[in-house]
Formats: sequence, structure tokens, C-alpha cells
Amino acid sequence: MQFRRPQISDGVRLWEIARDTEVLDLNSSYAYVLWCRDFADTSIVATVDDRPVGFVTGYRRQSAPDTLMVWQVAVDSEQRGRRIAGRMLHALLDDVATAGIDRLETTISPDNTASIALFTGVARDRDRTITRQDLFSPNDFPEGHEAEDLYSIA
Ligand SMILES: CC(C)(COP(=O)(O)OP(=O)(O)OC[C@H]1O[C@@H](n2cnc3c(N)ncnc32)[C@H](O)[C@@H]1OP(=O)(O)O)[C@@H](O)C(=O)NCCC(=O)NCCS
Repeated sequence: MQFRRPQISDGVRLWEIARDTEVLDLNSSYAYVLWCRDFADTSIVATVDDRPVGFVTGYRRQSAPDTLMVWQVAVDSEQRGRRIAGRMLHALLDDVATAGIDRLETTISPDNTASIALFTGVARDRDRTITRQDLFSPNDFPEGHEAEDLYSIA
């Protein structure tokens, strides 16, 4: 298992991993390819034999440059439970800290217990506080989307 920044050639694989979760909002393949070009510095992939098996995509918030906004986290179903997601987040946070980023934000749907456990564990392991507040309600989306609560680790 290795960790590295994503490359443009990883974009299709990231799209496949997101698709196969059947939980995440699947964005266009273009979005993942573009992300691998323009937000590689704030994203990370876990690879086996250089094939991505998990990823974290994130960006630095323009209005809060000390904050990493984590967009999506996913691990191939066959690789879950091996702390890959946690290790990716720790590696990414260690990396971006050198660029002055020391806060993390992400949004999580209320029923995504795995994601809540993941970020709560990361905050605990880094001896940080995690807080939750309302952010996006179902009314902010076209019909059928759950609320997205804002979790902050600071
Ligand atoms: C959420 C996800 C990324 C976790 O990946 P993973 O590599 O299996 O997670 P880890 O092994 O690093 O586990 C991290 C923590 O989350 C907990 N966890 C992981 N999966 C869990 C589950 N299904 N239910 C409850 N807790 C879970 C682990 O016990 C661990 O907690 P700990 O630090 O207290 O021991 C993975 O399940 C996934 O890809 N899910 C589908 C996509 C998704 O929901 N992404 C998150 C929203 S962006």
C-alpha cells in the first residue's frame, strides 16, 4: 500500500471507485480527471501496484486558506476496514500542514455512520476537536438529496 498525489491518469479509476460505492454522489468523469490536475496538491490516492484503491479529494477554501475542504473519501469495498481511509487523511493532513493548512471541513449526510466514525477517529487520533453544524438542507438540492452537515476539525 502506497500513498501519493493523484495524476490525470488516475481520474477514471477515481470515478470508478466513487461509482462502485453506490453511496457517494457520482460526478462526471470529467470532474475526477480535472480534480487530478487542478487539486492534486490537496488530494491523495492509496495504491496497490500503482492502481488506486482509495482516494481523498479536497481543496483549499479560497475564503479560508487555512482550511482543507474534503470533497469525497472512498475506498474500494474489498480494501475497507484496513485503516486506508484514516491513513490517507492523516497523510494528507500532514502534507498540507506544511502549506499552512491546519483545519479540515467536510460535509456528511446524517445516516453515513462510516464517514462520521472515520472523521471522529481522525480528530481523536490527532487530539483535535470535531464539531457538527447544519449546512445544506434537502431544500438546497434538487429533490431526493439528503441534508449535508458540516463537520469541522480544528
Ligand atoms: C467511509 C470509508 C471511506 C471508510 O474506509 P475504510 O478504509 O474502511 O475506513 P478505516 O478502516 O480507515 O476506518 C476509519 C474509522 O471508521 C470506522 N469505520 C469504518 N467503516 C465503518 C462502518 N461501516 N461503520 C462504522 N464505523 C466504520 C472504523 O472503525 C475506524 O474507526 P476507529 O478509528 O475508531 O477505529 C469507506 O467505508 C467507503 O468508501 N464508504 C463509501 C463512501 C463513503 O461513504 N465515503 C464517505 C463520505 S465522503
